[in-house]
Parts: sequence; C-alpha cells; structure tokens
Amino acid sequence: MVSLETIVSLAKRRGFVFPGSEIYGGLAGTWSLGPLGAELAYNIKELWWNHFVRAHHEMYGLASSVLMPEKVWEASGHLEGFADPLVECKKCKKRFRQDEISGKKCPECGGALSEPKQFNLMFKSGDVYLRPEIAQGMFVNFKNILDTMRPNLPFGIAQIGRAFRNEIAPRDFLFRIREFDLMEFEYFVRESEWKKYFEKWRKEIRMWIEKIGIDKGKVHELEVPEGDRAHYSKRTIDFEFDWPFGKKELYGLAYRGDYDLLRHMEHSGVDLRYTDPASGEKFIPHVIEPTFGLERTILAVLLSAYREDKLGGEKRVYLALKPAVAPVKVAVFPLVSNKEKIMAKANEVYNGLCQPKNSTTNNPYSTVFDDIGNIGKRYRRQDEIGTPWCVTIDYQTLEDDTVTIRDRDTGKQTRHAVTGLDQYFHASVSL
Ligand code: GAP
Repeated sequence: MVSLETIVSLAKRRGFVFPGSEIYGGLAGTWSLGPLGAELAYNIKELWWNHFVRAHHEMYGLASSVLMPEKVWEASGHLEGFADPLVECKKCKKRFRQDEISGKKCPECGGALSEPKQFNLMFKSGDVYLRPEIAQGMFVNFKNILDTMRPNLPFGIAQIGRAFRNEIAPRDFLFRIREFDLMEFEYFVRESEWKKYFEKWRKEIRMWIEKIGIDKGKVHELEVPEGDRAHYSKRTIDFEFDWPFGKKELYGLAYRGDYDLLRHMEHSGVDLRYTDPASGEKFIPHVIEPTFGLERTILAVLLSAYREDKLGGEKRVYLALKPAVAPVKVAVFPLVSNKEKIMAKANEVYNGLCQPKNSTTNNPYSTVFDDIGNIGKRYRRQDEIGTPWCVTIDYQTLEDDTVTIRDRDTGKQTRHAVTGLDQYFHASVSL
C-alpha cells in the first residue's frame, strides 16, 4: 500500500491539501483544502447529496447553525459524556489519549505520566459551543420539519456541515483533525421497523463506498461491542478502512433509539412526538443514523486511487479517480504554443468546455489549459492529479476540426470532432 507520506506530499505539492496557518508555523489538527482539494470536496458533497438526499423523496435537507447553547449539549449528553481519557507527561508536558498508548511511560521522552482524567472534546466560545456533531441540528429542528413539511414515517433529515472537536492528539493527516465536515442524516422510523432500516442503510453505505471509488476490499464492518459504543447508541457498525496507520473507522452506522428526541423533549419542555395520521397515536420515533466524515472520505479516495505503473517505457504516478470525483475533468493542450492558429483554436475549445454560455449541455467543466513543456510532461502532470481526459489541438485540428482525446488509465488516444465534445464528456462523467 502507498505510504501516508507519499499521499501527504502529493497532496501538498499539487494543491489538494495545505497545513493550516502554515506561514505562522501551523496549527495542529487543522488543514486547508487547496484548489484541487476544494473541487474534490465539492464533488464528493454533491455526489453524497444526490445519492442520499435527492434520490429519496422522504429525505429533507437542512443547514442548521454551528453555534448552539449549552442546554442542547446538556440534553444530548455531550457535556457529560463526550470525553476521551487524557494523560500528560510530567517531564515534557506532551498530552496523549490514554487509550492510544501502551505502557505507563511517555512514548516521546519516557517520562512519568499523570493519572488519566476525562477531557471533554467540545470547543466553547463565550456562552455557546461549536457543535462537535451536526446531528443535534437535526433533532433540535425536528418539530420545524414536522410542522412545515408534514412528513410521514419513515423520513430522514440530512445535512452537510462543519463539526469541531478539541482532539487531544490530532494525527495521521486528515484522519484525526479538530474541525471537519460531516455528511449525515437521521432517519426516523417506527421502533418495530428499526432493524429493517438499519439493514437498508447498511447496504446503501456499501453502495456509496463503491460509487465514490473507495477500495471496498479495504473496508471492514465491525459490530461495536456495547462498552465501546457512544452514549446514545443501542447498536453501532463501524465501517473501518485499512489506512497506512492501521484499521480504523471511516464511517459509522448507529441505532440511536429514541434517546435524542426524548432528552430534548424533557429538557426543552416542547412536545416532540409524531402523530400517526391514520390512528392519531402520538409517539417518539426511533432513529437510524449513517454518518460520513468528509476529510476521511477524501483521504480514503486518494489512497484508493493512487497508482504507479509504466507507460511507454516510462514510470508514472497517476490517480485513478472516478471521473465524477476528479477535481479536473479535462485538460486542454495546444500541441505547440508558437503557432497562432493552434493557440487560438485551443483557447476556443477550452472556453467551450468551461464556459456554459458556449456549451450545448449548459454544464461547465472543471477544465485546465496547459501549454508549458512537451506533451508527455503535460500528460504526466494531469495523471498525477487524476484528470481523466486530455484534449490536444494539433495540425490536423486545423484541417478537419477534430482533436485527440487521451485516456488517463490506458494512455490511448482517439480522435473526436470538436463539435459535441462537451456532450461527450458530459456522458462520460456520469458513467
Ligand atoms: N453523529 C454521529 C457522530 O458524529 P462520530 O463517529 O463521532 O459520530 C462521525 O463521527 C464521523 O466523523 C466518523 O465516522 C468519521 O468519519 C468522522 N470523524 C470523527 N472524528 C473525526 C476527526 N477528529 N477528524 C476527522 N474526521 C472525524
């Protein structure tokens, strides 16, 4: 398997991921997505939204606030239970999660460690907390959704948004960080049906993993034993991934029972029961919750896509990203940069792909233009960031208005008319 260092270095060098606040020496557990990382993240979020929200008539989207008052976290149990065991080295003062180190000495300097204490992971700002999970936004808005959308069970509330956790020891690149995006939904069901829907979403998670290009051979489902489950969960399956640093959680699927709505009803005094439209019976629905970390998705996608091979007798690195996920879809090259007609035609083709007003599909592609260096080098640059197609405008283009399309994975080239290029890529991206 590719090493984490190789991926971190590629990600930095090619503009996927930069260390947070780097010019000030960095801030542990924070990263910024560069131009390619931002495109990749945007594609993943859109695919997730299409897969889990738009494709299900009973799913309602939400974008709730990041800041929430202490009472929410009292009700949710996070004030009391959202903590990790912290130990500190008495000599070098480094902090560790006790459950992640072996032995009673500091792994860095060998010094003696303090007694463990429970360290709450929530960030506080004034009177409010930055949400450590986005799920509470769904529970707190449950009544608003009932009143405005009048849904029938089963139905879901979904959102994508930032979560913040004051991790004791952020580590392993994007794996454990202090702020990250979650893509998540709460699926409300009748208690008698929870097992059926738990299995339904378990299957859908597997489908999503394949769809996004995560190596399913590296994903393992773990039935989390009772003592290790979050305080709200009656059953949890962790979808673990074989990371270069070991087998650890990628995604989670939890059965939260009626824990959250019941607690919010008790703490807020607001009736959060659902009324059965046929019988008039009032009850608190139970909840199935699939949860997906965006940054862990990005890391698993990059690790799964990384390839080294030989093409035309030369070694190369490429990312076998699914076209729908790839940050750049098409690269446009003029064969030579010193021939005015070729440059003009290349610009015309480029603009036709990235500006919707010129495109018959009305769909702008993330397209780049490159006229620097020889064609072989330009191909390699695109391979390394996973661009599925390179279009070259050559002398023949000026005669018959066709271009070459070069396929990233095989290196094979085919000729295609300039007319209809956008439709050709549009159809290929959605494959
Ligand atoms: N609402 C349930 C919930 O938040 P969680 O297992 O605590 O569950 C959900 O977190 C997902 O968030 C995880 O499956 C993982 O993908 C991601 N995640 C959790 N902590 C993270 C961290 N420190 N850095 C990056 N991603 C994290």
